[in-house]
Amino acid sequence: MKIITADDYDDLSRRTAALVCAQLVRKPASLFVFPTGATPLGLFRELVAAARELRADFSNASFAVLDEYAGIAPGDRRGLAGWLGRELLDPLGIPASRVITFDPRGEASAESARVEAAIAARGGIDLAVLGLGPNGHLGFNEPGTSFDARSGLVPLSAASITSNAAYWGSEADVPRTGFTLGLGTLLEARQFVLIVSGARKADILGRVLADPATPDLPATIAHVHPNALVLADRQAMSRAPKD
Ligand code: PGA
Repeated sequence: MKIITADDYDDLSRRTAALVCAQLVRKPASLFVFPTGATPLGLFRELVAAARELRADFSNASFAVLDEYAGIAPGDRRGLAGWLGRELLDPLGIPASRVITFDPRGEASAESARVEAAIAARGGIDLAVLGLGPNGHLGFNEPGTSFDARSGLVPLSAASITSNAAYWGSEADVPRTGFTLGLGTLLEARQFVLIVSGARKADILGRVLADPATPDLPATIAHVHPNALVLADRQAMSRAPKD
């Protein structure tokens, strides 16, 4: 596992965008996974600017949506596929045919098989960029998830319901289950990058870096992934173990 400390959020966003652009140059038809949440917004801004200025060509790239609330109506504005569309894929001009999404109303085992097959049909994930949940989750892979879990339907933790309440109005409105790419699926990505920003992530990032790989902290799969990078800004790194 490699660790890089960025000066601040903008530097983190620029460095992550540079990794994505380098991957595109190496393999224009790459399959990418990007996180939901606040952390990647700077990255998305950089990528949209790079595409507009013709520094990045996404015309052959594909994307797999990391996670999705279950049971919501297609087109619900709170859906995560719709969110990724508004924030990144629509500005990049990516057609739906190059985006692998979960059907929020799909049957669990059929959705799992369909999404796994769609990823395999594109040759696997080339670069997965993940955000770090306040409880160490990755996507909706909550603490306790096995490292070999495949993609599918999972219960959301109380912590995730609380942290997502702001997007839904109240905790009571947050769906109790969601679809997520599995930890086993993410472990097979050729490159794994965990991006972390801000003082509010310092404690959890400190634990993720210090603890051995454990299902209690899904983000510790970074310790076992053969090509993992943790890219965090100085504030997020303030509780990292000093070695
Ligand atoms: P955040 O979310 O980027 O909004 O902090 C990260 C997560 O919960 O996965």
